[in-house]
Amino acid sequence: MRDQIVAGNWKMNNNQSETEFFLNKLIKQTKPTDVRVMLAPSFTQLSQAVTILKNDRITVVAQNMNAEFSGAFTGEISADMLKEVGVMTVVLGHSERRAMNHETDEVLAKKVKTALASEMKIIFCFGEELGHRKSGKYFEVVEKQITKALFDLSEGAWSNLILAYEPVWAIGTGETASPEQAQEMHAFIRSLIGQKYNTSLADKVSILYGGSVKPNNAKEIFSNKDVDGGLIGGASLNIDDFMAIVNSF
Ligand code: 13P
Repeated sequence: MRDQIVAGNWKMNNNQSETEFFLNKLIKQTKPTDVRVMLAPSFTQLSQAVTILKNDRITVVAQNMNAEFSGAFTGEISADMLKEVGVMTVVLGHSERRAMNHETDEVLAKKVKTALASEMKIIFCFGEELGHRKSGKYFEVVEKQITKALFDLSEGAWSNLILAYEPVWAIGTGETASPEQAQEMHAFIRSLIGQKYNTSLADKVSILYGGSVKPNNAKEIFSNKDVDGGLIGGASLNIDDFMAIVNSF
């Protein structure tokens, strides 16, 4: 049985007092025991989140890290720095960073290797843009993103990976992939992993869907056989919405 996961990506939201307010409410909630809850605050709130959540099962996740281990990279954060504040999981490949910070598949392949060498777990994001969806090239684009960044990893490395399919046209737009579109892509991704490695490995990898997941559509999306949960942006900023999504399996 694969892990069912709901991960909140706060992006550049929630300052210190907002983080405290949200997390103190979150720890009081009754959470389903069969769902892994994860939350990615901004870098400056990671330490605070680790402290508030120390007695909870919620995993604190970083939204990014640098591909290098250390050095002259002004403004950057290393894997070791994250681990030192108690953060063992990192989001890599988010489409906003691909688009705005020029994170290519090659850069991401390096980040993945650095994270794994640092014994960190990874939520690896990928997904096609609207143009690719319209031109029918979406399978091709996703296959390339996954192949270039992940398919030279050893089989063993995959136990540290969670995948997140986030079609760019559905992020922050209110437009969600239909449950059929999500299932179709997730099944395709699983079949790629099965062909490259083996089906037993493919069956173990959790594949999350991200892009305008809300309390009113989460259940339908999560009910698909190959969708193992969600990576949630906007709706993870509201505790009631976030908990409703956590309870949507
Ligand atoms: P929204 O849920 O706001 O569309 O964001 C999705 C996302 O980018 C999560 O990483």
